[in-house]
Amino acid sequence: MRVPLIAGNWKMNTTVSEATELVNEMRPGLDEIANVDKVICPPFISLAKVRELIKGSSIKLGAQNLYFEEKGAYTGEISPLMLAALCEFVIIGHSERRQYFRETGEIVNKKVQAALRAKLKPILCIGERLEENEAGRTEEVVAEQLRSSLAGIDFLGGLIIAYEPIWAIGTGKAATGRQANETIGFIRQNIAKLYNEDIAQEMRILYGGSVTADNAAEFINQPEIDGALVGGASLKATQFLSIVTQTSEIKQAR
Ligand code: PGA
Repeated sequence: MRVPLIAGNWKMNTTVSEATELVNEMRPGLDEIANVDKVICPPFISLAKVRELIKGSSIKLGAQNLYFEEKGAYTGEISPLMLAALCEFVIIGHSERRQYFRETGEIVNKKVQAALRAKLKPILCIGERLEENEAGRTEEVVAEQLRSSLAGIDFLGGLIIAYEPIWAIGTGKAATGRQANETIGFIRQNIAKLYNEDIAQEMRILYGGSVTADNAAEFINQPEIDGALVGGASLKATQFLSIVTQTSEIKQAR
């Protein structure tokens, strides 16, 4: 059985003091829920503070990006080694990075390799654009993203995949549970082809894109979907806690 995982991607939101407030609001409720992995991904500047605030709790910490070199003259960048000293997970290849910062499949691949070398668990994001979805090219696009992101990587070290259809991110227009389940099933088959059936069955694959407390159950109820990568709704303690609580109840009832 795969342990469900709910990750909150705070994106470029919260100052250190706002992050502190949000964690303090979430911590007691989240900590009580035992059968779900709960990961929060605040901005880099709050990682050290949040790490202190969640110490001794069951909440886990992730970053939203990294650079693929270990150290050196790369002004403004954050290395895998710096992150490994602070957190366990790192989001890689988010569509906003691909779109606004021109991250290509090759860059995403280097970042995944660098994260794994530093023993960070990548949350690798893939997903199609609206035009690609409408042209019926979803499977072709996600298969190519998987191929390029994972090229030359033999050991996946706890890597998690987040399927996020780009047209569903921050738009309030989520995919349906059935659509997401189908594509995630397809992604799992692809992992079986690229690696093997055991690795595919063990891999956690999340849905992301406009997940809220109101629609989370629709996704979590699907057999292929192991959790969610939550953006906007992860900035509200009650919403995030409700998504985690519903996940816990649904997966427990299985
Ligand atoms: P959203 O973002 O939940 O605000 O749509 C999801 C994401 O980008 O990870």
